[in-house]
Order: sequence, then C-alpha cells, then structure tokens
Amino acid sequence: MKKLIVANFKMNEQPGEVKQYFIKFASQFTGVRADAVICPTFVNIPLARFLTEASPVKIGAQNVSEEEQGPYTGEVSAQMLKAYGVEYVLIGHSDRRIKFKESDRLINKKIKTALKNGLKCIVCVGESLADRNTERTYDVIRKQLEEDLRGLYENELESVIIAYEPIWAIGTGNNASVKDVENAARVIRKVVLENFSEKASRDIQVIYGGSINEKNYSPLLNATGIDGGLIGGLSLNVNAFLNIVNSVK
Ligand code: PGA
Repeated sequence: MKKLIVANFKMNEQPGEVKQYFIKFASQFTGVRADAVICPTFVNIPLARFLTEASPVKIGAQNVSEEEQGPYTGEVSAQMLKAYGVEYVLIGHSDRRIKFKESDRLINKKIKTALKNGLKCIVCVGESLADRNTERTYDVIRKQLEEDLRGLYENELESVIIAYEPIWAIGTGNNASVKDVENAARVIRKVVLENFSEKASRDIQVIYGGSINEKNYSPLLNATGIDGGLIGGLSLNVNAFLNIVNSVK
C-alpha cells in the first residue's frame, strides 16, 4: 500500500505563497510513491483546490466545527469544507488540544460530524514530555483513542487515520525514535482491536508526526505498523516536501 503523507501548514503561508507552492507541487507531484494530502489554512483552501484539481494531491483542513450549521460565529462546517473539495480534516492536533483547550469529548463530536459529512479524519494523539518522563505514554494514547473514537461504527474507521504525534517531538527537532513509533503503533492497533475488531486494527492507517525531516523520514515512515507521516515545518518547503512524497518507499 502507498504511504499517506500529510502536510500541515498551520497558520502559515500568504495567498501569494500558496499560489507559488501549489503551482509547483501540482506540476511535480507524481502520486506514484505516496498519497499526499496538504492542509492549508481555511481561507487558502479554495485557491489550493483550484490549483490542484488536475493533480492527484488531496486537500485537507486543519479543523472543523462539531456543529452542522447555525449561530457559531467564526466556525467552519464539515459541509462547507466538503463543498470546497476538501477530503480530509485534522482533528485533535496538539495545538488545538492545548492552545484551544479542545477536550476528547469535543474531538469525538468533531469526528462524528466530519464522518457524517463524508470527510476523512486524521485524528492526532500523543503524550507530553511529562507523560513520557513518568512512563504514562501508552495510558495517554489509550485514553485519548478510547474517548475520541467512542461510539463510532466499525465501518466508519475506514475513514479514520490515527496520527501518533508526541507533543515533545512537534516543532522541536527531536523526533521520536523508530522504536518509540513502532511501540506507539502497536498500542494504537491494540486499542482498536479491543474496541472494534481484529480487521479494524489491521486495516486502520497509523501515521507518525513530529520533526520529520529529509534525513529521518525514510526509517520513520517505514517503521513497522506505520503507514505514513504528518509533516509540519518541513512541508512549507515545497522542494523538500516534493522530495519526500515522490521518493518515499
Ligand atoms: P513538525 O509538526 O513536523 O513541524 O514537527 C508536525 C505537526 O504539528 O503536525
């Protein structure tokens, strides 16, 4: 199976930069080695989508409302994203969990709303440095997953991707080791097995994110149980991101 590689632009890139980026990306992304999803900020989605319509790259959003529509000032609905050709959405990124105080209960509601509206959910889980130092990594991942996926139907998991993103590795230059990533993937699949089925635990896509760079991407993305990567900082460099998506094995 092809790797799934996701770019998270976070709150970066002005429209002019987005234009240059997507023109280049769309003309050079082959789609042979990997599936690529790029998540620009909301306002840049229509432009990104317009420039990539003829390319195999998919567009994702970085957030979505848990509500369907109505008086929710400042929010963007799943249906609106879908109408703009968005196929994926990041849910539960640590930026949202920590800086915007998103709870697992809210994340669970967002996942259900996004799935109902036909979006694929990239659900981010991962422990803090304090959790890691007190050997709570697997308890944290388990609790997040159980609460985030609560009440989902097994067939809905086909549209769910789990991103293991240890908070201490995001944007720090300190990536997790291959062993850390393999252990986390094992725990994620075990929780899915216990809460859903053996088939779901085997089939669910698990990706890794946290300080992926051009030197470490190959072993990390090829770790046992890992189906791809979520890339923040480095994805803003179109040449570097193209290199990864076009050459990963
Ligand atoms: P990073 O970010 O690659 O810059 O560490 C990853 C992420 O936040 O998804």
